[in-house]
Amino acid sequence: MTSRVDLRDVSVSFPDGESRVTAIDHASFEAAPGELAVIRGASGSGKSTLLNVIAGLQAVDDGTVRVGDVDVATSGEEELAMMRLTHVGVVFQENNLLTEFSASENVQLPLRARGWATSQVTTETNAMMEAVGLGALGRRRPSQLSGGQRQRVGIARALVGGRNVLVADEPTGALDTTTSHAVFALLREFSRRGVTVIVASHDPEIDTYADRVVFISDGTIS
Ligand SMILES: Nc1ncnc2c1ncn2[C@@H]1O[C@H](COP(=O)(O)OP(=O)(O)O)[C@@H](O)[C@H]1O
Ligand SMILES: [Mg+2]
Repeated sequence: MTSRVDLRDVSVSFPDGESRVTAIDHASFEAAPGELAVIRGASGSGKSTLLNVIAGLQAVDDGTVRVGDVDVATSGEEELAMMRLTHVGVVFQENNLLTEFSASENVQLPLRARGWATSQVTTETNAMMEAVGLGALGRRRPSQLSGGQRQRVGIARALVGGRNVLVADEPTGALDTTTSHAVFALLREFSRRGVTVIVASHDPEIDTYADRVVFISDGTIS
């Protein structure tokens, strides 16, 4: 499946008492395969909502959303869950790793959910842990890793199994500058290998790693 992301004239609103509040207002956005695009905007401008739309986690009122071959706006929950399992990875500021599992076990979860054979799971997980620079730390629990290392595990879990679109919502929001640079460089590396990476970030440090920065204000993309 291709990793092109294409949103046309998308609107999203939320109930707000008697009326509704507009979070995304006729926004269009596209990212080519292998592109690293940054979405920048103030708090409350609609960044997270937009990323959730791309990941099929937020329904739209209007507009078209295509991710690869998937018509996200008209797909059902099951199709969207399958899309996330096989095609689109998601990373948040808090990386939501399962604390009772080791780093490697966290990364294995999507492959097990897909019913991969154990030997394939091991091979792919080890390759992914190497790719994020954690080849030697797979046995550690999340609590035994630094914030930056945990975020690397989150990225590995999001991309394991050949997923080629990564949606990252303020992935370095809780990290210091040096660690943030290392995470941005890693995202850049994956995009060079063909992963389309879409990052919501208000950190200007990411700009040197980005192909494009788009600005969002009150749900409008400019
Ligand atoms: N689940 C929700 N219910 C109601 N309002 C929401 C919800 N999610 C977001 N919003 C509103 O939508 C707007 C955009 O929010 P968000 O996408 O989280 O912005 P950002 O990520 O840029 O801070 C804000 O006004 C926010 O309050
Ligand atoms: Mg947000």
